[in-house]
Amino acid sequence: MEHRPELTARRKDGTEFPAQIGLSTVGDGSEVLFTAVIIDISERKRAGEKIRHQALMLEGVTDILVSTDLDGMIQSWNKPAERAFGYSADEAIGRQVNEVVRSEYVKGSKEEADSEIREKGFWSGEVKAYHRDGNYLLTIASVSMILDGKGNPMGFLMMYHDISDRKKAEEKIHQQLQHLTALRRIDQAIAGSLDVHLVLDIALSQVITELNVDAAAVFLFDSVSMYLNFEIGKGFHATAYQALPLRIGEGYAGKAALERRIIQVQDLRSRTTDVLRSPTFAREGFQTYLGIPLIAKGEIKGVLEIFDRTQLQTDEEWLDFMEILAGQIAIAIDSTTLFKNLQKSNINLIHAYDATIEGWSRALDLRDKETEGHTQRVAELTIRLARAMDIGEDEIIHIRRGALLHDIGKMGVPDQILLKPGKLADTEWEIMRKHPTLAHDMLAPISYLQRALDIPYCHHERWDGNGYPRGLKEGQIPLAARLFAIVDVFDALTSDRPYRPAWSREQAIDHISDGAGKDFDPQIVELFLRMMDNPGNYTSQLLKY
Ligand code: C2E
Ligand code: SIN
Ligand code: SIN
Ligand code: FE
Ligand code: FE
Repeated sequence: MEHRPELTARRKDGTEFPAQIGLSTVGDGSEVLFTAVIIDISERKRAGEKIRHQALMLEGVTDILVSTDLDGMIQSWNKPAERAFGYSADEAIGRQVNEVVRSEYVKGSKEEADSEIREKGFWSGEVKAYHRDGNYLLTIASVSMILDGKGNPMGFLMMYHDISDRKKAEEKIHQQLQHLTALRRIDQAIAGSLDVHLVLDIALSQVITELNVDAAAVFLFDSVSMYLNFEIGKGFHATAYQALPLRIGEGYAGKAALERRIIQVQDLRSRTTDVLRSPTFAREGFQTYLGIPLIAKGEIKGVLEIFDRTQLQTDEEWLDFMEILAGQIAIAIDSTTLFKNLQKSNINLIHAYDATIEGWSRALDLRDKETEGHTQRVAELTIRLARAMDIGEDEIIHIRRGALLHDIGKMGVPDQILLKPGKLADTEWEIMRKHPTLAHDMLAPISYLQRALDIPYCHHERWDGNGYPRGLKEGQIPLAARLFAIVDVFDALTSDRPYRPAWSREQAIDHISDGAGKDFDPQIVELFLRMMDNPGNYTSQLLKY
């Protein structure tokens, strides 16, 4: 071969260009002439560089590139194609594309893609590109027609851009948003309800959807009995799934509570002896089990159980979120049971108060030499009257307390006045008339008796304004006091008093009847008299009438 050395040639104007020298000889042998020709090779050089550049570029491409001829026979197959599909270029080139490229259309179909390529020469969409081992990459694929210099189709170019990472990132962001939403829901449940069962119901729904598990349950720890009591379960086939109480240390949940750590069992089916549960439980077909201790303020509040019917694959992120959920549930239990205990102790306190009031009222009756049960009787009859007037039960609680305490102010009245067998002197009356005000002053500081004050303070007010201590009139007199006054006078008249013997029932009724519009609210008197006419409808065994 003729050797053509490359060199740099210089033009007259000083510019340089790559060149080769071509030498030729002219002559017949005796005389030989050499002719040197300088050939400008800049164009050729540029073309070569372009090809090398394109080759390098193609090598640097991370997208999968596959080209075929019009019949679908693979013409080129780059490194990413080798990695993605699992066939080397040697294996792939020359074969039919559908023998080695397995793909699945995420959106649209192959038919749609084919017709678009025929019409527009181009199609693009989401495609799963399968490796020969069955794994796949999520890609954006584009298929275009390769045209020759004259514009005639000569094959197809397929390009696949891996979007798995982007998808994963998107999914992760989406998941985190959902996780936040789940926590927010639990927060709202805690804030909006003091019913632990209701809050746990909501929390378990979040556990199941956000952790993508089949079922979940919560045991609550009773620090008195030291038992873990089943509280709620969700996602079980058995509609009324219930587990027996567990002692600390017993079963997986008991172990989680005792050791204060997550107990995880990958194949629950092989560990049936450890699981102290009903036969219906076995039929649930769970494989994965997690028992998570619920700890708030350093104390065990219960155990969260998570079940899945597959071998659950858990990663760090999943575990992190599970622990966050468990923490939230522990707080929910802590705050709701705190309220329940508070409520319980409040109820106990109220019972204690009411018992105290009744004790006081009996002591007062004794001192006043009233007949046995006077105060209980007036309280009872006042309540009947109040109910007949459609006064709400909420209010009646206070009316009852007020009636029981109506003459508590007499504690400030000396025996020689209170028990005086005869008429009271003016100075004695002055003291006696202070008993409603005394009652008010005694009871007003007790907040829980605030709404019970009307009767002790106002039961001697009169409809026409001639009563005491304030001379209130008609509607100014609290309703409770207006109806109580009738009952009290009636009961006082029909009882023996230190200052006079008991009146007959008829005399007492006449007295009340006469007092309508003077001493008493006339409408209530009417109602009271009707009640007295039909004792069966209104009275209880406590009443002596
Ligand atoms: P109390 O004995 O519980 O009587 C309550 C109310 O029933 C009396 O309020 C009065 O409105 C009516 N009442 C009771 N007994 C009679 C009666 O014989 N005739 C008439 N018309 N009404 C009667 P009042 O009057 O404001 O008295 C308040 C309290 O003062 C009485 O409570 C009682 O503890 C005492 N008291 C009233 N009068 C006398 C009296 O003459 N001698 C003595 N020792 N105490 C009296
Ligand atoms: C009384 O006799 O006890 C007082 C009667 C009354 O003020 O109506
Ligand atoms: C009450 O029933 O104690 C209140 C009625 C009223 O204020 O009129
Ligand atoms: Fe009184
Ligand atoms: Fe009384």
